This record gives sequence, C-alpha cells and structure tokens, in this order.
Amino acid sequence: MSKKLFIETLGCAMNSRDTEHMIAELSEKENYEVIDNFENADLILINTCSVRERPVHKLFSELGGFNKKKKPDAKIGVCGCTASHLGDEIIKRAPYVSFVLGARNVSKITEVLHKDKAVEIDINYDESEFAFKDFRTSKYKAYINISIGCDKACTFCIVPKTRGDEVSIPDALIVQEAQRAVNSGAKEVFLLGQNVNNYGRRFSGEHEKVNFTELLRRLSKIEGLERIRFTSPHPFHMDDEFIEEFAKNPKICKSMHMPLQSGSSKVLKDMKRGYTKEWFLNRVQKLRSMVPDVHISTDIIVAFPGESDEDFQETLDVMKRVRFDQIFSFKYSPRPQTEAEAFTNIVDEDVASARLTELQNLHTQIIDEKNAKLLGNVYTVYFEDLLHDYYVSGRSDNNIIIKVKGSDELLGEFRDVKITSIGRTILTGEVIG
Ligand code: 5AD
Ligand code: SF4
Repeated sequence: MSKKLFIETLGCAMNSRDTEHMIAELSEKENYEVIDNFENADLILINTCSVRERPVHKLFSELGGFNKKKKPDAKIGVCGCTASHLGDEIIKRAPYVSFVLGARNVSKITEVLHKDKAVEIDINYDESEFAFKDFRTSKYKAYINISIGCDKACTFCIVPKTRGDEVSIPDALIVQEAQRAVNSGAKEVFLLGQNVNNYGRRFSGEHEKVNFTELLRRLSKIEGLERIRFTSPHPFHMDDEFIEEFAKNPKICKSMHMPLQSGSSKVLKDMKRGYTKEWFLNRVQKLRSMVPDVHISTDIIVAFPGESDEDFQETLDVMKRVRFDQIFSFKYSPRPQTEAEAFTNIVDEDVASARLTELQNLHTQIIDEKNAKLLGNVYTVYFEDLLHDYYVSGRSDNNIIIKVKGSDELLGEFRDVKITSIGRTILTGEVIG
C-alpha cells in the first residue's frame, strides 16, 4: 500500500516546481501518494519561503500544530528557503522535526528521508543536471527550471544566501524536458529562474555559449508547443536583442514581468539593482513601441531604508507613466545575511504603511480605468482550470485571466473569447470561435 504525503508550499513559482520535483521523487522511488490532510499523512513536508519576514515563530507554531495532530510515527520535514537559512536551528527548536532540506538540495529528498535529523542545506550543491522524475500538477502548462540560484547582490534580498550562486541548466536538457511535456499534452511552458535573462552566464560543466534569447529560439522550434512564458527577467539584462526576440517570436507570450523595486535612481543604487529610473522607462518604451498590447507586471518595495518622500514620489511617477497591468507590492522587510540589514536609516512603520496604501490605491485606479476599456475585445484563451459554477478559466496570450461558462472539454484548448463583463482580477466572456 502506498504511503501518504502531505506537502504545504509557500513562496514563489520556483518553490512550486521544487514541490513537484519532491513529489516526483517520493512517489516514484518511495511509493508516496499526495493527500490533502496532514492528520493522515506518513510524511509532512513544509516547503518554506524566506523572502520577507514571516515571523519565525509562525513556522514553529505551525510545526507544533503538525506535531500535535500527526500520526504517531509520521515524519515532518522542513524544506525550502527558510530551511536553507535556519538549518539545524530548526531541529534545535523543534526536536520532533525529522530532517531539514535546503532549497538547493531538493534532489536529496529520498536520502534525508532515511537519515534521522539530517540537515542538508549546502548552497554550493550542484543539482543543475539532476534527472528528476516527472510530476506535474497541471497537464496543460509545464513549469521548467532553467537556472538555479542568483548571482545578483540586491541589498534587500536573502535569495542568494538560500539558493546560492547562479548555475544554468544545459539547454539540451531544457529542450528535452519541454518536449516531454508537450508529448504528454502541455501546449505551454513556463520557464523559471531568479534571473532568467541572465541565462547562460555559467554552466556547471563545459558548455556552448547559449544566452536566454538563443534558448527561447531553440525552444520555439518544438512542434506542438504554442506558448512560452517565463519569470523573472531582470530589467538590467533587457537588452535590445532580447526585447526584439520577445516582440517578434509568436510563441513568446506578450506579458513581461519587470521588477522595478523602486522608481528612485538613488534608492535603486542603494539596492544595488544596476539600473536607473531612466533605463527602466526606456526599456518599457522600447517594449511598448514594439508590442503595443504587452502586459507589464512588476514588484515594488516601499520604505526601503533611506527612502524619502521625494524618492517615493519617483515610484508613483513610474507607476503613472508605465501604468502596470499588475503589481506585487511590499513594505521593506529586513532580512538576515543581507547588506541592507545593517542600514540604519529605517523608515517609520506608519510612513511605510501609508506609502503602501497610496501605491496600491493608485494602482487600483489605473487597473479599473484600463479594464473598463477591454469590454467587447476578443482574445485567444488557453483554458487551464475548472472553476465552480460551471466556469472554465484560462489566459490570453498577454496574460489576462478570463472565464467562460463551460466544462472540462475546454481544458487544454484554445478558443476566441469576447469579453462581456469586467472584474478586477478576472474578466468574463463568451466563446465565439
Ligand atoms: N523586503 C520586502 N520585499 C522583498 N522582496 C525581496 N526581498 C524583500 C525584502 N527584504 C520582494 C521583491 C522581489 C519579490 C519576490 O519580493 O520585490 O522582487
Ligand atoms: Fe522563492 Fe525567494 Fe521565497 Fe525562496 S525566498 S521561495 S526563492 S521567493
């Protein structure tokens, strides 16, 4: 009989892919099957994120809850970025935890399972060529890692300390993985890396020089692969060659994540982002001039140490000029092992909250204005999810989420949809062809 696995995933798409890899290894090699209640599980995993401060005691209280109600001999494993940065501290504080597995050690999941109190968190470990078993949550869209780790030194960010230096996965392996996904029914791939357009800077062995633009060209030759998405590109590496390939390659979906972080060139310098406000606006302009209906999303941090009112006004100014289609916005949160942790010119908490609210209100207003203009438009939607109430949802090429009345026969299909009503995060339409 199979053993039962419960796994909770926090954080980014990279973590979701790591979770798929762990499920694949555990089900193929150890006969586990995923269930959705931890009380019946033989193995409980929590795949953690540490990008912002999720109070550590929250992790421990959650672990305590698992421990209280789990089956008596069930194991608990802590994985992911908080595992990387807290290491054996986790077992010291929660001795009932069986093992700790860092974000760069995912391939060792079946090993740590059999070693009591194992702590595997080496951020120099190289699993860029590890042949993970196949498991995908979605049949229609395949997440594929193209690089591991991050070579940047943004002063606010803990990720280089949890996922280590950047190593690219050989392009032939990526193409093979995409081909396998297409063979099993996926028409879309979603390429993942901390810094996708820095792809090719370092491979673990000898390797032909292949950059991200070339990787996109190679992937787009796969027959039956219709859509390519990726996250996250870095504004610093958005050279003309990359933007031109993005614009003219019909398989590349026309939505771009451009993490701004701040609109102030001074703050960007303190963050060590490597670009200025002007460079960012110039890249947006180039992109929009080549792809007028491109959707641009962004990440913004408010109240970074030393951010003055004028600096914040620069962020609002970029927001008004770019009119982002989606934003992920956060108050700065000091992280251990980062350069900014030592910065002393902390912004007052009330000011930080007020700035976040002002930014988000401005964005809501922009989105409402933009969405109102979409009524009656027609988009080709790739359907991926069954919703309740007999709706099916999918995305347009430029990443608008659209639902229509329908059932599972639409899943994995492309249809032309006319927008009939507007919502803030999801639009409703009807299939017209
Ligand atoms: N504080 C707040 N937000 C952060 N991010 C990364 N580190 C921090 C931090 N210390 C945000 C950035 C990044 C996104 C994934 O999380 O905006 O792009
Ligand atoms: Fe993903 Fe970063 Fe969170 Fe790690 S810390 S899970 S890389 S968002």
